[in-house]
Amino acid sequence: MAARIAPSILSADFANLERDISRVANADLLHVDVMDGHFVPNLTLGLPVVRRIAQVSPLPLDVHLMIEDPDHWAPLYAEAGAASVTFHLEAARDPVQVARDIRASPARAAVAIKPATPVDAVIELLPELDMVLVMTVEPGFGGQELIGAALDKLAPLRAAAGDRPLWLQVDGGISRATIGAAAAAGADTFVAGSAVFSAADPAAEIEALRRAVLGD
Ligand code: DX5
Ligand code: ZN
Repeated sequence: MAARIAPSILSADFANLERDISRVANADLLHVDVMDGHFVPNLTLGLPVVRRIAQVSPLPLDVHLMIEDPDHWAPLYAEAGAASVTFHLEAARDPVQVARDIRASPARAAVAIKPATPVDAVIELLPELDMVLVMTVEPGFGGQELIGAALDKLAPLRAAAGDRPLWLQVDGGISRATIGAAAAAGADTFVAGSAVFSAADPAAEIEALRRAVLGD
């Protein structure tokens, strides 16, 4: 089974981003959390920073937009060099059009849902999507505990996707202790912020997370 690991730079040292990104070069994706202080009560970084990270990152950028008005902003992140752009269903006016605009760049299109958002609304969008992000914490901050009930959304998504190669991502509270349960529930793409960047050796931690998924 696939075990894509996406370290979140939310837990990296923002004064030494290029150095910290080089420490996780053995990962599959680089997860970049964009927060606007409105959709979530926290503020991180925006387009100019993502554009620059895309130039120096050895990994494809997995941009997670926790912002209002993704209808306007999401395609611009795809143009800025993101390999994948994830927007929140709760914030989008026309999610089908947003996904199509992202794919036109071209980039992979993904929709995220918060823990309290039912999975049903995403099902009809699946033909427009390359990935669904099931949030396993309330978006906004790193270092929170995984909400186990959110994992129940993964099986219906996998079933609805059928033969389609849909990636299922989880984000929030993923560590060696929890990644096995997330994988068993159906996730194949795992964001880990504090678990990776608080480790003495982030690259070794990425390998440990992969081993935990594969059950070694
Ligand atoms: C939270 C962000 C996450 C965050 C995860 O809103 O979307 O990507 O960095 O952090 P951890 O892995 O520490 O829970
Ligand atoms: Zn995230």
